[in-house]
Amino acid sequence: MTIVEWIKAFAHDISVGIVVTDAAIERPGPIILYANPAFGQLVGRDPVEIVGQSPRFMQGKETRRETLDAFHRTLSSGERFHGYVTNYRGNGAKYRAEIDCRP
Ligand SMILES: Cc1cc2nc3c(=O)[nH]c(=O)nc-3n(C[C@H](O)[C@H](O)[C@H](O)COP(=O)(O)O)c2cc1C
Repeated sequence: MTIVEWIKAFAHDISVGIVVTDAAIERPGPIILYANPAFGQLVGRDPVEIVGQSPRFMQGKETRRETLDAFHRTLSSGERFHGYVTNYRGNGAKYRAEIDCRP
């Protein structure tokens, strides 16, 4: 087993939503490389189907631009972002997500 396979196997059974992207901060990045089943459940989408998309698909009308600007700035400086955003599920239902994003 490679280390990536091992990490995926570990993430598969965890109840916290995990999403891994590439390191491209500017559009069209960041691109989703992997999402665990708990993340699929949280966003109401098939985790396999969201690979290749940007996490921006979860954003909508009530997602605060100021929060996203802070998120962008933090990622640009290579730091960890911790915050709360309003996001939307595949069926349009709104939820509040606590985000802990590590470079
Ligand atoms: C690993 C990772 C996970 C992310 N998860 C989310 C998320 O769950 N919800 C969200 O609204 N944005 C999420 N983002 C943030 C967006 O992809 C994007 O970086 C943010 O909208 C700020 O950039 P922008 O101003 O170019 O849109 C995530 C970013 C990364 C790198």
